[in-house]
Amino acid sequence: MSKSIFRKKSVEKILHDVECGFSDSEHPGTASAQLKKELNVRDLTLMGIAAVVGAGIFSTIGEASFQGGPGVSILFIITAVTCGFSALCYAEFASRIPVAGSAYTYAYASFGELIAWIIGWDLLMEYAIGNIAVAISWSTYFVNLLEGFHIHLPKYVYTDYLSAFKAHEEVAKLTASNHLADITDTLKDNAAAWASSPGVGNLRFIANIPALAIVFIITYLVYIGIRETKKATNAMVYLKIAIVLAVIVIGFFYVTPANWHPFMPNGFSGVMKGVSGVFFAYIGFDAISTTAEECEKPQRDLPRGMIYSLAICTVLYVLISLVLTGMVSYKELQVGDPLAFVFAKVGLHNISYVISISAVIATASVLLIFQLGQPRIWMSMSRDGLLPKVFSKIHPKYHTPSFSTIVTGFVVGIPALFLNLTVVTDLTSIGTLFAFVLVCGGVLMLPREAAIKGKFHLPYINSQFIAPVVYVVCLVLFWKPFLELFSGENIHQKFPFFLFIILSTSLTVLSVFKKLSLIPVLGLLSCFYLMAQLTYDSWIRFLVWLIVGLVIYFTYSYKNSVIGKEAKKA
Ligand code: ALA
Repeated sequence: MSKSIFRKKSVEKILHDVECGFSDSEHPGTASAQLKKELNVRDLTLMGIAAVVGAGIFSTIGEASFQGGPGVSILFIITAVTCGFSALCYAEFASRIPVAGSAYTYAYASFGELIAWIIGWDLLMEYAIGNIAVAISWSTYFVNLLEGFHIHLPKYVYTDYLSAFKAHEEVAKLTASNHLADITDTLKDNAAAWASSPGVGNLRFIANIPALAIVFIITYLVYIGIRETKKATNAMVYLKIAIVLAVIVIGFFYVTPANWHPFMPNGFSGVMKGVSGVFFAYIGFDAISTTAEECEKPQRDLPRGMIYSLAICTVLYVLISLVLTGMVSYKELQVGDPLAFVFAKVGLHNISYVISISAVIATASVLLIFQLGQPRIWMSMSRDGLLPKVFSKIHPKYHTPSFSTIVTGFVVGIPALFLNLTVVTDLTSIGTLFAFVLVCGGVLMLPREAAIKGKFHLPYINSQFIAPVVYVVCLVLFWKPFLELFSGENIHQKFPFFLFIILSTSLTVLSVFKKLSLIPVLGLLSCFYLMAQLTYDSWIRFLVWLIVGLVIYFTYSYKNSVIGKEAKKA
């Protein structure tokens, strides 16, 4: 077994399977198993932007700005650079292996089956849990919007059970101990949701119904076809870019430069506290690689689409973060709707209202992309026998992976009824960074190829001397936090950072001896660094998710793997 869990799927086999429909001997492919080729570079760039600009920039930027002050704009640049290295590695893979499945397919070709399974499982977390976060955020803005029309829903139909229960307990405790001043408005609202909800004792009906409803609608759109999805995405994304630009341009006239001083009020460590929220804002450019089989010219267009969308979003994000922190003091930004909030704060209530409407649209288009990407990963895994065959069933009329799409709707919609936003955001960020790590690592394992015209090619730069220089510069810059690691309580909470030190040292040594390609090495180092900034609790939840995945692999997927069966026959 030890050897066969690393069995690889050759690039030739991957491409052949796609050309002939998926082709294990028990399930010969048919022409109807092919997806429609509808997407060009413009569509892909727009899809990238549609996936990236969403709950992150409309919501989580608030908390990140509160922690880091105007310096959060630096974090947007650091994160963009990290994503840029990973995007180039994704692009290299997408150009060599232009099939659906994204990092999962890439890992199958370079690391072998077990790692491919882990990455596929991890991507399901990125897309499914990420979409739960987006659906919850959508629901918040949607309810705000209804309030503007004087439609007031009872809170228990748009909040989660846990938040309401915790608030109820907390308020009771604070009231009993006479600490009434500590009861914040959010606590009050959530406790009121608990008190007014129907039910008996602790058995209450509290669920986020709008979150479920939007997942249902989006899943239906994705189910009926890629062309409809493309049209809807293009329309939504233009509107979204226009609104973001309007916020930047109008907001610029309301900036008070004094708000930018001090630039990093809580130091660099304050800025880095926003990693999870800021990284979440960038997630999505990688999702377009799942549509490779629906592209007209995937080898040329997919890399371009990814890199263009990332570049456009970076410029927009850095400008937005500067405008936001310039309009009001960073201390006021710990709100769920920061963009709408700052305009209301400077007296522009109509603009604030327009922003709420656009947030509803923006987050809906993010949902759309992820609901589109996810079933295509299930489909790829099923084609390889790692999931039951029904997951790769293509609808005869709509030409979409119908069963997987419906399952995705349930997997996202039901938890969105009950889960809490912060937990799901952290989990999505760590899962996605891990996917990036595997993609950058995978590129290092690919044999070097000469550049071919019309195909993206990652330039080889020798890391032998540059990687140690980067390492030493980082040591000089970060010696203080490094020493702090060994002091204080709860040393176990610092384990992500210890892991980062071990991994980055090993990678630098490998670079020196093996002359590794610089771009993936920098991609790995920067992803490790951002992962080390995430909380201990997120790491534990993430590890639990991976263990569940491994149990499924060893009890089902290992035995049913197409590659495994073919190897046995041979
Ligand atoms: N980047 C996506 C968003 O911010 C996930 O909603």
